[in-house]
Amino acid sequence: MLNFDEETARLLEIAYQGSDIVLRRMLSFDAVSPRPSETILDIGSGNGLLSVELARAVGPNGRIIGVDPSAEMRKPAMERCADFDWVSFREGSAYALPIEDASMDKAVSVQVFEYLDDLEKAASEAFRVLKPGGRLVVSDIHFDSLVWHTEDQARMDRMVAAWDGHFAERRIPAVLPPVLSDAGFEIQDIRPVTITDHVLKPDGLAIVMLTLMENFATRHGIVGKAEAAAWRKEQEDLAASGRFFFSISQFAVIARKPGI
Ligand SMILES: C[S@@+](CC[C@H](N)C(=O)[O-])C[C@H]1O[C@@H](n2cnc3c(N)ncnc32)[C@H](O)[C@@H]1O
Repeated sequence: MLNFDEETARLLEIAYQGSDIVLRRMLSFDAVSPRPSETILDIGSGNGLLSVELARAVGPNGRIIGVDPSAEMRKPAMERCADFDWVSFREGSAYALPIEDASMDKAVSVQVFEYLDDLEKAASEAFRVLKPGGRLVVSDIHFDSLVWHTEDQARMDRMVAAWDGHFAERRIPAVLPPVLSDAGFEIQDIRPVTITDHVLKPDGLAIVMLTLMENFATRHGIVGKAEAAAWRKEQEDLAASGRFFFSISQFAVIARKPGI
């Protein structure tokens, strides 16, 4: 897994509220389409940025439950949602949700399924907790959509291959729909959003990926420190001379549990 030191945590706190990640969060929010009084589950709720937006949308007669195995992630989420007493966070996993059968109007999971090695189990758990007619939204990047300009493609390919080692599945939007169908869901839509940057934004997704990918590749000894640093420096130099280009797509898979 990833190692979040203080500097990385600070970078993430900024970038998660920057325009790139807000764009992908809005894709997920719109796909959920929260309504007043609904009960919505956020699977792998992380630092709670989506949970708080859902809380505002369902209002005090609704309910938001975030589930995350990480105490480090649940703590900032609870602080962020402290003013909303209809939001709660529970320790738990997508494989064994601490949620009653058929109790949720909707469930959403953003940037979590790519870390799961048992998609079937997670799909059947989401199916179990939704009411008949309930909606599931699973929103992830398909990493084949990454276009990152470089003048050293072989080095870029090594860095991207190293990053593949940090998740269980890099193509969730393409491989998940048949898994959801087998679990009983009807697939309703797959909606994309593309993040494209021609500058290296201090609050953008590219700078997050530069930092996390460099840390992951070197910490696991997959790429040497000098090579990873040179990879990062190239991107900073390209940006300084107006030749930076980064683009990646996120997809929200929208599925429905059959019923009323
Ligand atoms: C990249 S973060 C995404 C957080 C949040 N959904 C967002 O979009 O900001 C991945 C989250 O998945 C959580 N996670 C990891 N394994 C999980 C599992 N088996 N079930 C549920 N959540 C899990 C992590 O603790 C982390 O909070």
